[in-house]
Amino acid sequence: MRAAYVAEPSAEDPAGAVRVGEVPVPEAPPGWVGVDVRAGALNMHDVFTLRGVTTPAGPGPHVIGSDAAVVHNGRDFVVYPVLPADSGGRTVAHATLLPDAGHGVLAERIVVPEAHLVPKPAGLSWEEAACLPTAWLTAYRMLFTKAQAGPGRIVLVQGAGGGVATAATALAAAAGATVVVTSRSAAKRERALALGASAALDSGARLPRLADIVVETVGPATFEHSMASTRAGGTVVVCGGSTGFTAPLHLARLFAREVTVCGSTMGTLEEFRALVGFVDAHGIRPAVDSTVELDGVGRQAGRMLAGDAFGKLCVRVS
Ligand SMILES: NC(=O)c1ccc[n+]([C@@H]2O[C@H](COP(=O)([O-])OP(=O)(O)OC[C@H]3O[C@@H](n4cnc5c(N)ncnc54)[C@H](OP(=O)(O)O)[C@@H]3O)[C@@H](O)[C@H]2O)c1
Repeated sequence: MRAAYVAEPSAEDPAGAVRVGEVPVPEAPPGWVGVDVRAGALNMHDVFTLRGVTTPAGPGPHVIGSDAAVVHNGRDFVVYPVLPADSGGRTVAHATLLPDAGHGVLAERIVVPEAHLVPKPAGLSWEEAACLPTAWLTAYRMLFTKAQAGPGRIVLVQGAGGGVATAATALAAAAGATVVVTSRSAAKRERALALGASAALDSGARLPRLADIVVETVGPATFEHSMASTRAGGTVVVCGGSTGFTAPLHLARLFAREVTVCGSTMGTLEEFRALVGFVDAHGIRPAVDSTVELDGVGRQAGRMLAGDAFGKLCVRVS
């Protein structure tokens, strides 16, 4: 079967480290099932794997990808992409992605735990459904578990074009929050308004009113602005750092305003089911930047590195 896998990781040219070719069909361990992948989506995590920052377990070739919409026994599903972390307690329980355990999903046929199959909302295309497992699950937990996004709340989403950011914008707006986004790009700001944002500002611009909740995925390029834009008692939720992992923290803003800064990673199976139900109930269509055939995965990785996408970079598998 055909799959996208890491040839030789490359810190200098991660997009060039993708190969698409034949790999052995995996065997399903007990409790797992073989499923046919229709579409997938890329995440920054895949770029980390292509760079060699994360090394998947087991012998290669290491198939990349965490996000898949699949068919099993004639029924359509999305796959919850997380395995329990190892018992060493290095990280939270729901933090190990399928590809890290040697079960990447950008392949024609994959094996997944049967319990991880969640029915695909009928109103979503294969590509839209494939957006949900990583970026959308992460945004859901940030908004609704780590903070209480809802009516009367102002949610600031930094870096409006990102996969997590577009998800957070659509989810928070559907939940009745007032969403303010920032982006470096006027075109992305325009598109964020169409997703449900009430206001779209240039990166670093002053907010008309301070936010209750900030969805922070960009890192050092926006973190100080996130702290400056949060009201007293508000919450900054951080899930990543596309521009790096070290940012200065203005301690006076932290203590004088009693701001909570908290981390968030992926989500639980229950949260994933709740996300899929929420998306279905609200008729939300995830923002897809573009879709390529499996042969184009390297090109999508390049787009992710360039940071010019709006929404998810998808892959049609079969
Ligand atoms: N912890 C978790 O479970 C988890 C899950 C998913 C993702 N993540 C992490 O979250 C981060 C975002 O992921 P993603 O998939 O949403 O990434 P993405 O789609 O690549 O989006 C990143 C966004 O960051 C903004 N950005 C990039 N460079 C910038 C700069 N120099 N100044 C200002 N803004 C900049 C861009 O927004 P604009 O162009 O609109 O300004 C871009 O759209 C990554 O670090 C990823 O690893 C973590």
